[in-house]
Amino acid sequence: MQGDRSVLDDPRLTKGTAFTDAERRAHGIEGLLPEAIEGTDLQIRRCRMHLESKASDLDRYIYLSGLQDYNERLFYQLLERDIQALMPVVYTPTVGEACQKFAHIMRQPKGLFISLSHRGRVRDILRNWPEPEVRVIVVTDGERILGLGDLGVGGIGIPIGKLALYTACAGVPPHSTLPVVLDVGTNNDALLDDPLYPGLRRRRAVGGEYDDFVEEFVVAAQDAFPHACVQFEDFTNRNATPLLHRYRDRISCFNDDIQGTAAVAVAGLFAACRIEQRRLRDHRLLFFGAGSAATGIAELCCLQMTREGLSRDEARERCSLMNSRGLVTHETTGLLDHQQSFAHRGAPEPTLIGAVKSLRPSVLIGVSTVPKAFDRAVIEAMAEINERPVIFPYSNPTSKSECSARDAIEWSNGRAIFASGSPFPPMHHHGKLFVPGQGNNVYIYPAVGLAVYATIAARVTDEMFLRAAEALAAQVSEEDLAVGLIYPPISEIRRTSVNVAVEVAKLIVERGFARELGVDAKTVESRVRGAVWSAGYDAPGASVAPTTSATARE
Ligand code: NAI
Repeated sequence: MQGDRSVLDDPRLTKGTAFTDAERRAHGIEGLLPEAIEGTDLQIRRCRMHLESKASDLDRYIYLSGLQDYNERLFYQLLERDIQALMPVVYTPTVGEACQKFAHIMRQPKGLFISLSHRGRVRDILRNWPEPEVRVIVVTDGERILGLGDLGVGGIGIPIGKLALYTACAGVPPHSTLPVVLDVGTNNDALLDDPLYPGLRRRRAVGGEYDDFVEEFVVAAQDAFPHACVQFEDFTNRNATPLLHRYRDRISCFNDDIQGTAAVAVAGLFAACRIEQRRLRDHRLLFFGAGSAATGIAELCCLQMTREGLSRDEARERCSLMNSRGLVTHETTGLLDHQQSFAHRGAPEPTLIGAVKSLRPSVLIGVSTVPKAFDRAVIEAMAEINERPVIFPYSNPTSKSECSARDAIEWSNGRAIFASGSPFPPMHHHGKLFVPGQGNNVYIYPAVGLAVYATIAARVTDEMFLRAAEALAAQVSEEDLAVGLIYPPISEIRRTSVNVAVEVAKLIVERGFARELGVDAKTVESRVRGAVWSAGYDAPGASVAPTTSATARE
């Protein structure tokens, strides 16, 4: 008669020291654990002590990654409880360092590594994934990891981190998620020269070779997991928009860098509109930066402005972009297709202050990665033109931010409506508390993911991101607005995300994209709320029937 420690070793099923006496007996694992029967509170207390004892955030990242490997439910319970403190460890900025050092810190690889050497067999590789019902795939090719460039297969850390937040922030079940890196080589010489680099040792595939490989992946993913939504993540600007345009009308997919960013920025603008009692069409926007983030936000703003009655051309006229050579005009050369539509008539204007003075924008959005570009003269000019200048320095990380919260508030004499890409601490200005909001995509993509998961949406559209933005802005309380906070507190992200997901799912149903049987206008809210996965040991699906070990013990 032998025990069966598989229940103890299975990261999805284990409770570790929380197994009760009865469970220990039933599974034949008595003695394999110390005497004490611990509750989650005690286990979490120990985890927090472990985390505190680590010397760096990278060490904390490695510890949490290990916890995810051996006790998934405990990992998510800890993450949910301490989301504000742990999000920067599980995701940016620490995940960036983890991706850079992937070759050196790798323990047990997570996710799927699909490389060019698998060409012609990608479907089989996907079928090697042990979970049968994948619903959300986050895929990167590792070429533009955050602001860190080409990190090859080290980029897998991004899909892993993002999917952990799908679960922690919105309750998307972890077994329905799949992180993927497409290994098409790397142009990072340091990686190619590193004997520990575990990816394909060749330069990146480009052109037809690249496109064909992505196509094989997309077709194979549809075949292996027909209900899965594909989230493209951290592709370089050259590929991100073309890939989105190629697949958005063919499969259920989206690009968070473009559409998630756009939605969170527009949610901030909706909240600003609430403060000012204006509509978006009443604003004139200047984007400092003309990359994926800028054009994505500008496009979604235009969609909203057309809903408010402007023509498409009138809406585009209200959005101007600047790149490293100045204001984007008809004279600007080398523009990509998605930038062309925001090229306007007008004289070349090389400086930001010049553009602010001539265009007189009410909204200034920084997506340039140029630190301190919003200097005192720029912010004072914005404050001279506008009663409440809207100033969003969105570039990440903090070291790249176009200005700090303090700069924007002090130089506008407390009048700026502010949000940033990276977090800034609360501050006082002339005795008044000011809490800066962070326009973090995490307010959007887990919620959209939950809506798509619960309805098995056939498509993900810009309209859904606009609905997510509206639903997010609607949850900002008057108390939040009173201290300048234009996003709900991150500590309430779970509740916020589920509410956003409900609104997005309603739209999915309205538009006829829901493939889940029995989901209709009446049932959709309860379906979404019912789909939320709980990490508790006693949650449905958490326990395992002890029959296996009972048999084993006979
Ligand atoms: P990208 O590389 O596609 O675009 C950067 C743009 O900045 C390019 O158009 C470039 O010409 C322009 N630029 C560079 N130097 C400039 C200069 N001196 N003056 C004016 N423009 C200049 O990058 P992407 O994806 O658009 O991201 C931009 C920034 O936005 C990054 O820092 C990223 O982290 C941040 N971001 C923040 C998000 C958030 O907080 N929710 C989401 C997505 C992006």
